[in-house]
Amino acid sequence: MANRKYIVGNWKMNGLREQLSDIVEIAAIAEQNSQVDVAICPPVTLIAQAAGNVPGFTIGAQDCHFAAKGAHTGCLSAAMIREAGAKMSILGHSERRADQHEVDSEIKAKAEAIHTAGLGAIICVGETEEERDAGKAVDVVCGQLEGSFPDNAAATWLTIAYEPVWAIGTGRVPEASDVEEMHAAIRGKLVELTGEGADAVRILYGGSMNGGNAAELLSVPNVDGGLVGGASLTAEKFGPIIKAAAAI
Ligand code: 13P
Repeated sequence: MANRKYIVGNWKMNGLREQLSDIVEIAAIAEQNSQVDVAICPPVTLIAQAAGNVPGFTIGAQDCHFAAKGAHTGCLSAAMIREAGAKMSILGHSERRADQHEVDSEIKAKAEAIHTAGLGAIICVGETEEERDAGKAVDVVCGQLEGSFPDNAAATWLTIAYEPVWAIGTGRVPEASDVEEMHAAIRGKLVELTGEGADAVRILYGGSMNGGNAAELLSVPNVDGGLVGGASLTAEKFGPIIKAAAAI
């Protein structure tokens, strides 16, 4: 049986209080399309207010620290983001792997911390353009998955997002056949890592998804949803993606 589609908006470093009304509108669209799971991950400054405004809707974070507490200036623990109202967190986004030099073992520890706090996690993997051109994309992505894969992983709390780095924010999208090949490889790796429960772990595609290409991308075998950046910032742009997922 196909997994329920999961459409997640990653607002990255975008959004002030005046954008909270978009989350209210997005939550209303999600409610009208309840066969799809929808979440928004705003900047952490908006989590508490967003969660308060739309209690039945899933608000997530974009990162958390792996430690429960301590001397880590500027960082937030899983319990802190949970207390703010987050139900899940994106982890290991390629922008953090690049800008904050996050490595697989750290992402694995973060996922375990998130699970300990009772939250869900989306672990991101994806190759650079150079790696794809060198024919290494599948090996790189499966290596990231293996290295960042948490102990006690289960579909109830863990989601994987495949985001080719060269497709993020560029308007470039891989061929459907390339997405299919990669998602099949990720599924295969999940079977190796978790055994029988692997089919229920959702694998999202991310990278320049929008209202125009969502239906095609979301119809690719083993694509269980989308992780959306730019096109998640307004209800006007994000709504059509949610509706495309609902129509599949
Ligand atoms: P864009 O949808 O803006 O390409 O961003 C994708 C992404 O990085 C989501 O995490």
